Amino acid sequence: MGKMRKVLSVASESVPLIKTGGLADVVGALPGALAGQGWEMRVMIPAYRGVLKSLKAAKEVWQSADLFGAPARLMQGKVGALVVLALDAPHLFDRTGGPYSDNAGDYADNGERFAALSYVAAEVARIGVGGWKPEIVHVHDWQTGLVPWYLRGSDIPSVITIHNIAFQGRFAREKLGALGLTQADFQRDGVEFWGDISTLKAGLMAADAITTVSPRYADELMRPEFGMGLEGVLQMRARDLHGILNGIDTETWNPETDPHISPFSAKKIADKGNNRRVLQEEFNLDVKGPLAILISRLTDQKGIDLIAPAIEPFLMAGGGLAVLGSGDRWAEAAMLELAARYPGQVGVKIGYDEVLSHRMFAGGDAVLVPSRFEPCGLTQLYGLRYGCLPIVAAVGGLADTVVGATPATMAAKAATGVVFHPVDALALQQGLLKLVSLYEDRAQWRAMVVRAMKADWGWAQSASRYAALYDTLTSNAD
Ligand code: ADP
Ligand code: GLC
Repeated sequence: MGKMRKVLSVASESVPLIKTGGLADVVGALPGALAGQGWEMRVMIPAYRGVLKSLKAAKEVWQSADLFGAPARLMQGKVGALVVLALDAPHLFDRTGGPYSDNAGDYADNGERFAALSYVAAEVARIGVGGWKPEIVHVHDWQTGLVPWYLRGSDIPSVITIHNIAFQGRFAREKLGALGLTQADFQRDGVEFWGDISTLKAGLMAADAITTVSPRYADELMRPEFGMGLEGVLQMRARDLHGILNGIDTETWNPETDPHISPFSAKKIADKGNNRRVLQEEFNLDVKGPLAILISRLTDQKGIDLIAPAIEPFLMAGGGLAVLGSGDRWAEAAMLELAARYPGQVGVKIGYDEVLSHRMFAGGDAVLVPSRFEPCGLTQLYGLRYGCLPIVAAVGGLADTVVGATPATMAAKAATGVVFHPVDALALQQGLLKLVSLYEDRAQWRAMVVRAMKADWGWAQSASRYAALYDTLTSNAD
């Protein structure tokens, strides 16, 4: 095997160390996927409380007496096969709450916190640490948007991936100095965005290439309905914008070997029934028809408000719903109210529970994803793999990965779920009723389940696209 090329990935989350959403799954999976393509990827994240304890054989590879106000160091260690560079800056990251907020809301110094991460990442890219210097840097979302900006004028190419354009890293202009920026950076072709600073825009302006996590979302981003004010920037950079679909970790998500469930396969699909029984018990449900699940951040993006006005006919027709999620208070309340109104048919658990999520995909017949926008989405992919057929809104990665049942797709033996549009309660209601009628034709349903389970959502294809992009950018560099 030839010499491995080197790429530094910089992000605010990565499994198995810290996760609030799909970003962490993707950042944690990419290094393994890219290794097979000849690229050694190391992952840099903040050392939030507890992170250093999980690192094996950690050693200091860089330090500063004053990083945005106090001493900091970079610890390199391993977790499994992943090589992690954790930025240990207690004044910024050693906190009791989550990565971005605590009970009182977003941390007031989020700008400084992630500017510091970005600043050190740019430094690592320029000088290398621990005898390792990357040829290219790959950053993710607003938290690391300043890395390409800080690297302008260097010979190190950068890629930024948009996982969600709703989060833009907006800070008041007064923060320029605190973020290591000057008035000269505050231009329309710079970090300025509607009178504020946007660290995401900084990344989109300065990176050599922009990717996002599905082809459909790449197109959507250039339109006002989805671009959230950045559509103009993306239109301008259209030639450098690529939609590369996320993969899933097919070892963690394998119904044949999953230690959290009673295993089953496309060949022995009847065994999925045990999981459904367990799930019904766990949620106190007694459902005869299709059992739908929802596993999600409970926020506006995820279309949670559409469920209550849409679901009654589905429940009347014998369907049921099990919900696992946490998020905005109004959305949690709406779900709990639904469970109270339909005992035995709707069950809700508020919280975050990885293991339970495995049991839900294994036991559910369908996974509901009514998102208003969805850059890629991972739960529909886990659902496909576990024969838990997706019922999804026709947006972003959902539209790219689920083949909706229509007379034509059924005849062509291609359908793997239900796709509804527009994204409103009426279309969702009709989608749910379609699900019931598909479910009632048992032979047909079983054929769809088997087809869904056989599809390959592993990383191989997408990893080769990232590798090709790195190749192009590094050969252009001189
Ligand atoms: P997003 O990143 O926008 O939240 P994705 O579908 O890309 O959406 O990723 C969400 C990830 O978080 C999936 O791995 C999903 O299974 C997981 N997840 C979301 N909510 C919960 C929860 N309450 N408990 C366990 N896992 C959850
Ligand atoms: C974001 C998006 C989600 C995507 C994930 C990983 O959180 O909301 O659609 O799957 O990032 O790319």
